[in-house]
Amino acid sequence: MAYAPRPMRDTSIHSPGAPRTFRVRSYGCQMNVYDGERMGDLLAETGLAPAAEGEDADLVVLNTCHIRERAAEKVYSDIGRLKRADGSRPMIAVAGCVAQAQGEEIMVRAPAVGVVVGPQAYHRLPELVARAASGERASDTDMPTEAKFAALPRRRLAGPNAFLTVQEGCDKFCTYCVVPYTRGAEISRPFNDLVLEAEMLVEAGAREITLLGQNVNAWTGEDAAGRSIGLDGLIRILAKLPDLQRIRYTTSHPNDVTEGLIAAHGEVEELMPYLHLPVQSGSDRVLKAMNRSHTAQGYLRLLERFRDARPDIALSGDFIVGFPGESEADFAATLELIDAVGYAQAYSFKYSPRPGTPAATMPGQVSREVMDERLQRLQGALDRHQLAFNAASVGRTCAVLVERRGKRPGQWLGKSPWLQSVVFAGEATIGDIVQVELVQAGPKSINGTLARALHHA
Ligand code: SAH
Ligand code: SF4
Ligand code: F3S
Repeated sequence: MAYAPRPMRDTSIHSPGAPRTFRVRSYGCQMNVYDGERMGDLLAETGLAPAAEGEDADLVVLNTCHIRERAAEKVYSDIGRLKRADGSRPMIAVAGCVAQAQGEEIMVRAPAVGVVVGPQAYHRLPELVARAASGERASDTDMPTEAKFAALPRRRLAGPNAFLTVQEGCDKFCTYCVVPYTRGAEISRPFNDLVLEAEMLVEAGAREITLLGQNVNAWTGEDAAGRSIGLDGLIRILAKLPDLQRIRYTTSHPNDVTEGLIAAHGEVEELMPYLHLPVQSGSDRVLKAMNRSHTAQGYLRLLERFRDARPDIALSGDFIVGFPGESEADFAATLELIDAVGYAQAYSFKYSPRPGTPAATMPGQVSREVMDERLQRLQGALDRHQLAFNAASVGRTCAVLVERRGKRPGQWLGKSPWLQSVVFAGEATIGDIVQVELVQAGPKSINGTLARALHHA
């Protein structure tokens, strides 16, 4: 849906003129972060420089998220606060999922915004910025996904980990979720484009690539020989790239798990032993009302198959508490499921009614107090399991990919194969994979001792 620009109501607030520096603020999921990086690549290619740390930018891109309540409110308050040291306003571009869902409203409510651009149209950002610079407010919330990727420039890369969006959009329509509306229908990026982008990333220094998608395991494509392949096929091919040491993928949906993907966990050394597979609730009644189209038992059986293929696999998930109609018994079923799985890590949220989704008008909306209380109990259980998982890895020596310097001098921070944050001291370089003995476990990180360098970047 294209939006016809409205005339500015208050020309004194927005100061046109070509921006020279920019900053992108990303608020959402990893795909939102990927989009933020790509918008940065684009702006850099058109000659803008990233604003230095602590300095004002001429153009600020607010790369928004719409998944839970008040995301939009946060955008308006950020817009209000965006001022430069001299009191003037930067050019403001609102991108991301709030832009998609509420673009027109933003243009009307926030005269300071010069550009609105949706998550499928941001390849046109430079053109929109140029229009805004000449005083014309510009908006684009079209959804031509393939065109977007084809129009993006070469990747620039900051560290040893890289995100690579392989799949976008969602056809699942869980009754609480805005993603099918903000991101559009499921599409898979073509195989060749992905191999090229992965090669580029490795050449730029990536040692680990995380394949991204709203339902990443729904990815399908054709390999170089024209054979139809799924995500596991793509992983097997990317694993052969020299210098690519690690592959991860997120987020998967239980209904798109294939035999091949499970098998890949037992067979592909580069595929890390980690699986983020959201379940949302342990109650079949709630799962049905959520339109998840899987049961708690079905989900548990899937995890068993992953564990058979890769016994040490670390499991992660997403949970929603207080979905409309959730009773104490439903919630207890979720706690039971959590204990049955023993998650290494997980995300949990209070249900947030999203305008336009079926669940927002369902009967039995749960009170804030009950949600707060359930979230606390749920997070208590998840924290217990996370600490237990970390404690169980003490004594192991494992490969750690060095990501950045730690807080203290001589300290490094990296990730274990199970995505645990590992802190250690000694000789290392960012991008190295080193052997670290895990010595002391905390809830969020593990202290280790450097054993020996395994692989130099
Ligand atoms: N496609 C992924 C996740 C997308 S959104 C999947 O289906 O697993 C990330 C998480 O946000 C979801 O897994 C869910 O736990 C949470 N979420 C989505 N909509 C929500 C809402 N309206 N209220 C609270 N949490 C929500
Ligand atoms: Fe949202 Fe469900 Fe799609 Fe995930 S699968 S993005 S929760 S609709
Ligand atoms: Fe948020 Fe959009 Fe991601 S709503 S979670 S930024 S897909």
